Amino acid sequence: MASLLDIQNLTLTAAGQPLVHNLSLALNPGERLGLIGESGSGKSLTALASIGLLPPAITATGSITLGGTQVLGAPERTLNRLRGTVAATVFQEPLTALDPLMKIGRQVAEPLARRAHRDGANIDLNREVTALLEAVALPDPGRIISAYPHEISGGQRQRVAIAMALACRPQLLIADEPTTALDVTTQAEILTLLDRLVRERNMALLFISHDLPVVAKIVDRVVVLQRGEAVEAGPVAEIFAAPAHPYTQSLVAAARRFDAALEAAP
Ligand SMILES: Nc1ncnc2c1ncn2[C@@H]1O[C@H](COP(=O)(O)OP(=O)(O)OP(=O)(O)O)[C@@H](O)[C@H]1O
Ligand SMILES: [Mg+2]
Repeated sequence: MASLLDIQNLTLTAAGQPLVHNLSLALNPGERLGLIGESGSGKSLTALASIGLLPPAITATGSITLGGTQVLGAPERTLNRLRGTVAATVFQEPLTALDPLMKIGRQVAEPLARRAHRDGANIDLNREVTALLEAVALPDPGRIISAYPHEISGGQRQRVAIAMALACRPQLLIADEPTTALDVTTQAEILTLLDRLVRERNMALLFISHDLPVVAKIVDRVVVLQRGEAVEAGPVAEIFAAPAHPYTQSLVAAARRFDAALEAAP
């Protein structure tokens, strides 16, 4: 089976400094992979590189293909064809995905209209916007449609960002710390939502986090990054049971301590 996302020997450099070094990972249709590592280990840069959105200061070597198309060095026209349809992204801070001056309904309608145009389809935009907001379990879509981003909660904004990512029916969802900015209860709700949507829509998932227990809930396999290098990779259960690298061992030990503290709490 051809990989949906195939990263081979990716090295990212800024001003001669390597930020990601010789990273390889592949994701087949329907697979779920976690990319885990401490702050600054290169997770977000890897996500950005995958959809051709690297900051100009960063140089990339190696290869990244999305749906068989080379991303590194590709013209904007090619990248626009891939973005949203092959891969869509959800980021940590939902406000970055949203225009503060535009009502939610119009923002969600934009990618839907693009998809309809691409498919040559005639769609009832209002109905599709409502259906998409319902799919991400937003209460009272009627109110949300005519609200501005600042008029809804952080968890609701992240649901809107997820709805926009789903609008073009991507084969791969890249979620970069999608729950980190949210409180614990909302975090759990968004994780459950992502888990359900990925299953229902047969998407592949690249889930990025510094939080091993969160990643373990939603993916099957993980790649552990430390200072830009993959130090360990394998099925979540195996890595949890027997982490081989000292850095992974420290992540697992920290997760266990956290669990033990929760159990000991009155
Ligand atoms: N535009 C840039 N120019 C130069 N260096 C950058 C740039 N963007 C990021 N970096 C550096 O690249 C490294 C990796 O950054 P990245 O954002 O990928 O980390 P991360 O693993 O996503 O961390 P976090 O968990 O904090 O989000 C960091 O050392 C960062 O300072
Ligand atoms: Mg990051």
